[in-house]
Amino acid sequence: MMAKRNIIITGGAGFIGSHVVRLFVNKYPEYKIINLDKLTYAGNLANLKDVENKPNYQFVRMDICDFEAFYDLMQREKIDGIIHLAAESHVDRSIKDPFTFAKTNVMGTLSLLQAAKLYWESLPEKYEGKRFYHISTDEVYGALKMNHPEGVEPPFKTVASSEGHKAYGDEFFYETTKYNPHSPYSASKASSDHFVRAFHDTYGMPTIVTNCSNNYGPYQFPEKLIPLFINNIRHRKPLPVYGKGENVRDWLYVEDHARAIDLIFHEGKVAETYNIGGFNEWKNIDLIQVMIKTVDRILGNPEGHSLDLITYVTDRLGHDARYAIDSTKLQQELGWEPSLQFEEGIEKTVRWYLDNQEWMDNVTSGDYMTYYEQMYDNR
Ligand code: NAD
Ligand code: TYD
Repeated sequence: MMAKRNIIITGGAGFIGSHVVRLFVNKYPEYKIINLDKLTYAGNLANLKDVENKPNYQFVRMDICDFEAFYDLMQREKIDGIIHLAAESHVDRSIKDPFTFAKTNVMGTLSLLQAAKLYWESLPEKYEGKRFYHISTDEVYGALKMNHPEGVEPPFKTVASSEGHKAYGDEFFYETTKYNPHSPYSASKASSDHFVRAFHDTYGMPTIVTNCSNNYGPYQFPEKLIPLFINNIRHRKPLPVYGKGENVRDWLYVEDHARAIDLIFHEGKVAETYNIGGFNEWKNIDLIQVMIKTVDRILGNPEGHSLDLITYVTDRLGHDARYAIDSTKLQQELGWEPSLQFEEGIEKTVRWYLDNQEWMDNVTSGDYMTYYEQMYDNR
């Protein structure tokens, strides 16, 4: 039997956070799991309907910037673990409104760190048995060149399609790669990563940071490429492809990320960084073709029916060319492996969005957007 733990998962009403909360609530009935979320436009408690009545689950609506409320909560609930996912997460929004990203991602993270420090240092056992685990992105490393079109074999398990793994360059992001963020989003995440490490190096707080590649799967807010495009294909709306669609992203099924988080929270080494990814690079335009093919097949449309929706639009400012994670350390040291081939993951994801039209209608409805966008604008 596992030791009892009292954990706060921040951002648990968002995309990745909801998968992490679900996994922990189902797997660890003896834990107390507190989902702490402000419910911005991206937070949606409908993502957690299946676990909301479990006795080991609690929801607390709170802004991570509210230092005093967070400190009180830690003290009241005797928190010994924090898994921190709450953030502003969309690059395009960060280009329009960088201040909100600095506020939540940088100041919010610092506020959690400082509250955790004060609370844990007040205890007789201090940092013994405690853990502050910060979830970050591979985007902090910057962009890689595309210089190896013939493909490179990955050393470890890949989630590539049956056609095999393609790497679009011979460079990868390693845990030792120098930070070089380009977008306001990645700059804010990089800054928060540095603060987390500084709390370990300065005060001895037991911290861990992980940097993951692009996630996809159920419950992702339809401002991101995959859910947005699945929904647009279904409704025969244009598919806005930025630039030439040549940018490369490395995709991981969200439940594989959640499993990695569980493993690293329990078995990862303090002060370490782990990269999480499945060696699964796709050019945007190729991925869009796969989505079109899959949605058309499931809806019974003739092959190629939705190709005419592809609409090339002005490129994103500062659009990073290529992301590619090397997760050898995680695969080798902790034995994590991605579980799904990309084709299976995309099939599951497309079916989920097509089967859950009510969820999609809710988060894209005028009422929902007006409510959340107002909150967003007023912050
Ligand atoms: P998301 O936008 O879907 O969810 C973010 C959640 O944080 C929402 O529930 C929102 O309500 C909450 N939140 C935002 N500001 C808050 C605040 N001030 N106080 C409390 N809660 C607040 O994001 P996601 O895609 O699930 O990403 C989760 C984390 O994982 C982020 O830290 C992100 O940087 C990181 N990450 C994401 C990806 C990806 O592909 N989505 C990849 C690697 C890392
Ligand atoms: P996104 O899902 O926003 O993730 P990120 O920018 O964090 O990688 O975008 C994934 C890729 O898809 C990225 O290269 C930008 C591109 N993209 C489009 O071409 N059109 C769109 O409408 C969106 C949202 C993204």
